[in-house]
Amino acid sequence: MHNPLINHTCKAFQSAFQSEPEHFFLSPGRINILGEHVDYNDGFVLPAAIDKYICFAVKKKQDTETCTLVAIDIEESFSFNINEQQSPVEKAWANYLLGVVEAIQKNGKTIGGLQVAFSSTIPMGSGLSSSAALECGFAYILNALFDLQLSKKEIALIGQKAEHTFVGVQCGIMDQFATVFGKENKVMILDCNSLEHRYYDARLEGYRLVLFDSCVKHTHLTSGYNDRRKDVEQGKQIIRSHYPEMTNFRDVTEEILIELKKEMGEVVYRRCLYLVKEIRRVGEAVQALSENRPEDLGHLMTETHTGLSKEYEVSCNEIDFLVEETLTEEGVLGARMMGGGFGGCSINLLREDQADRISKTIEKKYREAFGIQMKVYNVNISEGIKEYTANAFII
Ligand code: GLA
Repeated sequence: MHNPLINHTCKAFQSAFQSEPEHFFLSPGRINILGEHVDYNDGFVLPAAIDKYICFAVKKKQDTETCTLVAIDIEESFSFNINEQQSPVEKAWANYLLGVVEAIQKNGKTIGGLQVAFSSTIPMGSGLSSSAALECGFAYILNALFDLQLSKKEIALIGQKAEHTFVGVQCGIMDQFATVFGKENKVMILDCNSLEHRYYDARLEGYRLVLFDSCVKHTHLTSGYNDRRKDVEQGKQIIRSHYPEMTNFRDVTEEILIELKKEMGEVVYRRCLYLVKEIRRVGEAVQALSENRPEDLGHLMTETHTGLSKEYEVSCNEIDFLVEETLTEEGVLGARMMGGGFGGCSINLLREDQADRISKTIEKKYREAFGIQMKVYNVNISEGIKEYTANAFII
């Protein structure tokens, strides 16, 4: 299954460096079943790693202080000295990796010279977390090759740090955790405050999670993601000024928000209302998942979409269209936008025997409405980042 990607990455490495790679690593994208925009708001999330990957081909270079990175898919490369202090550069993709190096240096760890080439089957800007796969994949590689003794949790936090400091997106921790801690056929419930997590069987007998990629691309540097963080921070401050004991959104109720609505103003109120409801929904979704009640899970997904679209306002016309049209079809339990929003994918809980028909119908309707060919991803829930050993694949 991974062979074409590994093969392609291997060949590109050989031609870029005129030598053989010594290691291959696979770093996955993620889906999120429920709990959107609550990872930086005291919530719980339900993500899982998927079988779409960034593949890294790597060789350690003892004789040099240079690290050379080749982004195969966009035919760009970048080199830097690993012992110098790093700062953000113009090549946006390189910043994810330089940010990781800086975070590792700040941890007091030392790395050596390296040649890296990478290629991806995770579509970029589609809400499947290609960013976390890139930054955490690289942190994982440096940890493995230079024996940095970092825990998996530290790797996830380093990835997030890189995005905050070098990319400028104030993301939460969900994507990095899913990429690093993903388990085959398991959905994770992550407490985004304590970072404790448990796994649930992804048992959805008779149903399938299917992604519809609107092909509307976004980057959270410009998307409004950081603005949402400011809105909710303002809301939190107002709540605290009246209820100092309420240190996080888990304690807040809808009644309190109604009481403070005037002071918050309409926009901040709506943002906070979404969060309070979404935190509750994730609790209900965990119950539905563990009791194998897919219908209820589907309802919650659809409710989340309404909240994301009308209250948190991170959807867009194309995704709203996809969700609304999907919900008119028979055999659909739930549909919603997924990830940061402003484009990307919808996630749909569909009856197995209807999924292909529904996908085709929506594909056609979307093309007619927007002139865009959407993509359909039937993803499988898979392992987090791992090294791929040479004898496990055939080239
Ligand atoms: C992006 C961010 C995550 C999370 C989601 C929305 O994927 O990277 O931290 O906030 O958006 O749930």
